[in-house]
Amino acid sequence: MIRQIVYHTPKGVVYIEGPCPGLYLDRLTMNSKLTNFRPAKKQKEALIMITTTPHGMIYIARHKKEIVGYITFHRPDESSRWFNHPRVLELGGIEISPDWRRLKIAENILQAGFTNPVLEDFIVITMEISWYWDTGNTKLDTFAYRKVLCNLFGSVDMQKIPTDDPDITEHPANVLMARIGQNVSSGDITLFESMCFQNKDINAENVLNNYQLRGL
Ligand SMILES: CC(C)(COP(=O)(O)OP(=O)(O)OC[C@H]1O[C@@H](n2cnc3c(N)ncnc32)[C@H](O)[C@@H]1OP(=O)(O)O)[C@@H](O)C(=O)NCCC(=O)NCCS
Repeated sequence: MIRQIVYHTPKGVVYIEGPCPGLYLDRLTMNSKLTNFRPAKKQKEALIMITTTPHGMIYIARHKKEIVGYITFHRPDESSRWFNHPRVLELGGIEISPDWRRLKIAENILQAGFTNPVLEDFIVITMEISWYWDTGNTKLDTFAYRKVLCNLFGSVDMQKIPTDDPDITEHPANVLMARIGQNVSSGDITLFESMCFQNKDINAENVLNNYQLRGL
């Protein structure tokens, strides 16, 4: 069943909805500025595709018949180390149209998503990779953007997790964040912790020290 929250903004009423079935998303239009990850039309197709995958979920912010923002939850990509953990779900993307930013829509859509009890059965991760960030429209530099995202995801209790995942270590602003659901077993937590450092050539202690030294 789709849950709906009515959210009043100075630009009009926005409905925060999810998890949304693909057929429902198909009937809506996509705001043309939702192009952060790919062209808006392709992004809509990607959202619909996610709804067909195991545990895939889409939450949207809708104004009239138009999607103005969304978040995605899906299993990690098969090429990622996190795919090997059965209880990891990835918060793969969050995007709010530049027409609708700074109205707390991102905060609200995250809050809505994380009230879903299903997420208590998972370790939800987000891989924040700086080359996806919209530094142009937001006028934020990379590290200020990182801070905004850490606060945003922190608002739903996600925490920074040190790791030697090459996608994260590639750039010092990149960050892995995670929230461990209440029903996740201690065995699954231990497995997750053991997966954070897998590169035998990197000394985990050095990465951790580095992380702390840089105040990250
Ligand atoms: C990051 C993003 C999702 C924020 O969406 P949003 O709806 O504008 O965020 P909110 O209005 O909920 O902002 C919550 C808080 O974050 C901070 N924030 C958000 N955007 C900011 C900006 N451009 N500059 C400074 N602070 C910002 C503020 O503290 C804000 O609260 P405030 O407006 O009361 O000061 C949006 O800019 C976006 O879609 N960016 C492109 C996609 C992206 O980078 N996704 C993340 C990687 S997957």
